[in-house]
Amino acid sequence: MASSIGRDEERTPKRREDDRLYDNISVIIDSLEGLGKLDKAEFLKEAFESVFGLIPEAQKGSLYELVGEQYRPVFCRGYDFDLLSRLAFGVAEAFIDFHIERDSSIDAFETRITGRDPAHFSPETLEIFRKLGTLSGFSSLYAPIKVEGKTQGLICLENFSDDGFSSLSRKVLKFYARLISQFYTQKLQQERETRRYKEIVDALVSAIEVMDKYTEGHSHRVVGFSRSLAKRLGLSDAEVSEIGTAAILHDVGKLGIPSDILRKPGRLTKEEFAIVQMHTANSRKILSEIQGFERIAELAYYHHERFDGKGYPEGISGDAVPFGAYVIGLADAFDAMTSNRSYRPAMTPDQAFSIIKEGSGSQFHPRIVEVAVTIFNERQGNLDGF
Ligand SMILES: [Fe+2]
Repeated sequence: MASSIGRDEERTPKRREDDRLYDNISVIIDSLEGLGKLDKAEFLKEAFESVFGLIPEAQKGSLYELVGEQYRPVFCRGYDFDLLSRLAFGVAEAFIDFHIERDSSIDAFETRITGRDPAHFSPETLEIFRKLGTLSGFSSLYAPIKVEGKTQGLICLENFSDDGFSSLSRKVLKFYARLISQFYTQKLQQERETRRYKEIVDALVSAIEVMDKYTEGHSHRVVGFSRSLAKRLGLSDAEVSEIGTAAILHDVGKLGIPSDILRKPGRLTKEEFAIVQMHTANSRKILSEIQGFERIAELAYYHHERFDGKGYPEGISGDAVPFGAYVIGLADAFDAMTSNRSYRPAMTPDQAFSIIKEGSGSQFHPRIVEVAVTIFNERQGNLDGF
């Protein structure tokens, strides 16, 4: 019995610590849900504020990002940010380099600063320490932010009492440092992926332009107008971006059309036109092969549909056609009308727009025509250089 009471007494502080850890982790999990949608600056701010709030001993703190060879502050609590910015320090400087660069895993470390060695710091730096209150007599809990084993940043929390930080606080900071590191890693992967997609898109666009001389510049102009329309129509950023990508690739299926038909001077025969019409299905086939391009493939497939159902390839109408496809369709039609063709000279933007207005509700979606007219009037008929 006596021994059992003894064990309980030993466990109680541990249990209390476990409870607090559990509560802390619950807060972290709650906050995680929104984090993935944030951009880097927002995410870092959220994460920094969150860890600062969770570590009770933290009286001041700062988050640094490695820019070139220097750690630069991004956020701070309790310090004058401008003053802190003057303290940007190099990778090989200060107290943090030893632990951080030696170990490839992510951990949190605590150090007690009892004084600053005048031999190690310039008088200006010591003066900044004095103004910041970090000359001596405090504990710093810090952890690196790492991406693929390389330090990208640093998170530091300071306590100015004699007690320093608890082991739980160290665990919490370690957890956050890993979380932030993971976020950085994901962002890096996203950037690589975006670059990869951009390369694919560029390669496809140049392939189209080699095949079909008249489209030179056409895809890019259609993108500009489509994106402006999409934005003004109040579509989400994701939809605007999707429409932009579909707009640049909408005619990729022309790669499968014989070049003598594409380059034929003069009007096409009925049979030739039927072959050209196949480019929408080809576009869908090519684009749907790219992972993540399923919706973009659909927008390209439907870009020649009309609001009244008299378009192709399906001849569907109204809301059955993806809205983004109508946006691209209008931008495409405008650019085609205002470009020279072997069988007719380019129309003026005014002439093209009167045709677009006439086509509202028949060829074009009325809401898109309305917004297109607004943009056209605002820009006084000049739709170049979006
Ligand atoms: Fe087309």
